[in-house]
Amino acid sequence: MSYDNDGKRRQLLGHLSRRLAYTAPALMLAVGGGVALQAGSEWPPGRVGKVMAELSETAWLVSSAHAEAEAEAEAEAEAEAEAEAEAEGNAEDQAEAEAEGSAEAEAEGEAEAEAEGDAEGDMSDVQRPEGYSPAYSEDGENDAELLAQGEALYYDTSLSTNGLSCASCHGSDGDDRGYAATFEQPFPHQVGMAENQFGMAQVHADEMVQICMVAPMAAEPLEWGSDKLTSLAAYMVEVQRRFTGEPHNL
Ligand code: HEC
Repeated sequence: MSYDNDGKRRQLLGHLSRRLAYTAPALMLAVGGGVALQAGSEWPPGRVGKVMAELSETAWLVSSAHAEAEAEAEAEAEAEAEAEAEAEGNAEDQAEAEAEGSAEAEAEGEAEAEAEGDAEGDMSDVQRPEGYSPAYSEDGENDAELLAQGEALYYDTSLSTNGLSCASCHGSDGDDRGYAATFEQPFPHQVGMAENQFGMAQVHADEMVQICMVAPMAAEPLEWGSDKLTSLAAYMVEVQRRFTGEPHNL
């Protein structure tokens, strides 16, 4: 029997990527229940939700669900690779499949650990370090260059691991959405997601950026003191002024 290993591999890869492609829109649906979503170019349009209150819970589930789905897909790949090698009785392939299997099992374990970690929400990832002094102002003016840099990042899907940008949930071109009424109060203030998922009674703008990085964007927090974090936080302070109808520089 001539065995087309490459073909089989391609088939397996195709299967895997279909699984992952399938998870993404499903996740958006989950989030869509909780927040008015503006679909980015890669996302199917029209997933616009209504009930804001739920989102602090739901957005959080997105990253966990994603990690779990990946783990599941990997476990399946592992089983398929092993079955494939066994059916063939090829010792070399079998060894390879086993090696692959254990690497995948490890990845699976990591994804699961990540999913669990996410559900808890580690405050230390998103809270200002002790003695931290931010290089933007929450109650005064921030310079135009900083705001422009923050605005660019706000539209940048490469900040997330799930194809979302801040604008995917919070709107583009001044159409501010996805914020609860708490956003109208000066920082620091109470925010549902910060309180429910991270146990933080109050947050500054940069801490809120970090929370959205870690939770809905399913990414690592930005480096404290980095231009990215500083400019995004400065931009959000200005967006807040626009949101509340105050004069702003956007
Ligand atoms: C998947 C959707 C989603 C994405 C993507 C997202 N956020 Fe959010 N964000 C939310 C939700 C939901 C809330 C409201 C949380 C609440 O009130 O409990 C929120 C609230 C906020 C708030 C306001 C909190 C307040 O009331 O003061 C800021 C600021 C914010 N996000 C910034 C960002 C930034 C910056 C990014 C990109 C790095 C981002 N968000 C990406 C869902 C998202």
